Amino acid sequence: MLTGPAKLPPPYRIKVVEPIPFLSADERRLALAEAGHNPFNLRADQITIDLLSDSGTGATSAAQEAAAALGDESYAGARSWFRFRDEVRDLTGYPHILPVHQGRAGERILFSSLLKPGQICISNTHFDTTHANVKLAGAEPRDLPCPEAADLDSDEPFKGNIDLAALERVLTGPEGHRVGLVLVTITNNGLGAQPVSMANLEAVRELCQRHAVPFFLDAARFAENAWLVREREPAYSDWTPRQIATRAFQLADGCVVSLKKDGLTAIGGLIGLRDDELHATCEANLIATEGFSTYGGLAGHDLERLAQGLKEVVDPAYLQSRAASTARLAQMINDAGVDTIQPPGIHALYLNAGRLLPHLAPHEFPGHSLGCQLYLDGGIRCAELGSLYLGGMDDEHRLVTPAPFELVRLAIPRRVYTDAHFEYVASVLADIAKEPERVRGYRIVSSPPLLRHFKVRLEPLAAGPTAGAVA
Ligand code: F0G
Repeated sequence: MLTGPAKLPPPYRIKVVEPIPFLSADERRLALAEAGHNPFNLRADQITIDLLSDSGTGATSAAQEAAAALGDESYAGARSWFRFRDEVRDLTGYPHILPVHQGRAGERILFSSLLKPGQICISNTHFDTTHANVKLAGAEPRDLPCPEAADLDSDEPFKGNIDLAALERVLTGPEGHRVGLVLVTITNNGLGAQPVSMANLEAVRELCQRHAVPFFLDAARFAENAWLVREREPAYSDWTPRQIATRAFQLADGCVVSLKKDGLTAIGGLIGLRDDELHATCEANLIATEGFSTYGGLAGHDLERLAQGLKEVVDPAYLQSRAASTARLAQMINDAGVDTIQPPGIHALYLNAGRLLPHLAPHEFPGHSLGCQLYLDGGIRCAELGSLYLGGMDDEHRLVTPAPFELVRLAIPRRVYTDAHFEYVASVLADIAKEPERVRGYRIVSSPPLLRHFKVRLEPLAAGPTAGAVA
């Protein structure tokens, strides 16, 4: 598909830039303290490299901005809507397309229309808002990741897969009648950005058809999954990413998509459906809560950027260079002595903070500690995925059940940072890895009852080994 030297550069050059701030070490220390030692509370103008999320943080293209100027803001039946709808229909093959302002709005509308209280929604891994929206619909989210996902270091190509044997056991067992939906997340953001194979999707489709259970995709990173399929699943090595993505959508009964990722835009989402009745129910909910069915909470200019972004995101040259850029960052980080979930995915790298900081016990939040140190030393912001986010706490905010792993996610915004930025990130991490014992643990000062990681406030523990770590 691509010819020329093995290392092709990204298929774009930079036309518009934005300055990034460089604070002094004292300013960073003060900023983090004022933020309650929670990077979510930092102001963007206090951050040098922001790897908190790949969602809505990408750069748009000149073609997208040109299209945006054509945005038709008519309340109903805007030209921009038809452009968007036709592009999505062509990509996904679904006859019914509903626009929403972002992924979680689609989740709320779909689940409240499809799931009944008491039912089970099975996934490879539910993203946190997906999990919350299944619960809000009165149903039970259940994760069945494949067993290979538990080994962070192995090179298994498709650790994002759902566990087919476990899925079949639930479908044929006493709870089988309660399964209201199987939702496969591509790629698996909750578990290391790992891809799902087409063979796995085919098998899920077969099981769901046999048991008359709807099968949907949470397809926020459908193009990146397609690229990894092309690279790692031999039967698809000569398919284009777009053909693979279309095939994946074809296998499912519908999809819910946050377009803030592979839509290459700041905002947007969609629900794709085959079923007429489900479409009618979702459409009524959409009109009541998001907006009329030809804009769904989006402006005409957003729909235009999306229609163009969906074309650009499946460009093999773009996907190849993005995957290679993430892989190079992973290599630099690994060479510096910091382990990441293997093999590297595309939209994020997951640092194994538990292994890097063995002097910190889970209740001292090694992942959070590493995230704070990256900010203190280099102005880098990222997100913890460990016991602070996933652990079970008692009423005094003491950790009762640690998370299985203490990870930190470095999310990679699309078309935003160059290899020079990533060399900087790797060098900050390398310095931490030379003296890991200087990283201090944290304790919770106050915490909200729900979605703790967003608003929790913490304070650093005194330097030196603590009782918990010695035990
Ligand atoms: N599904 C997946 C797999 C996601 O990663 C996200 C968002 C959503 C659904 C929700 O979409 O944000 O548009 O409402 N993930 C972001 C992240 C926030 O940083 O991983 P949304």
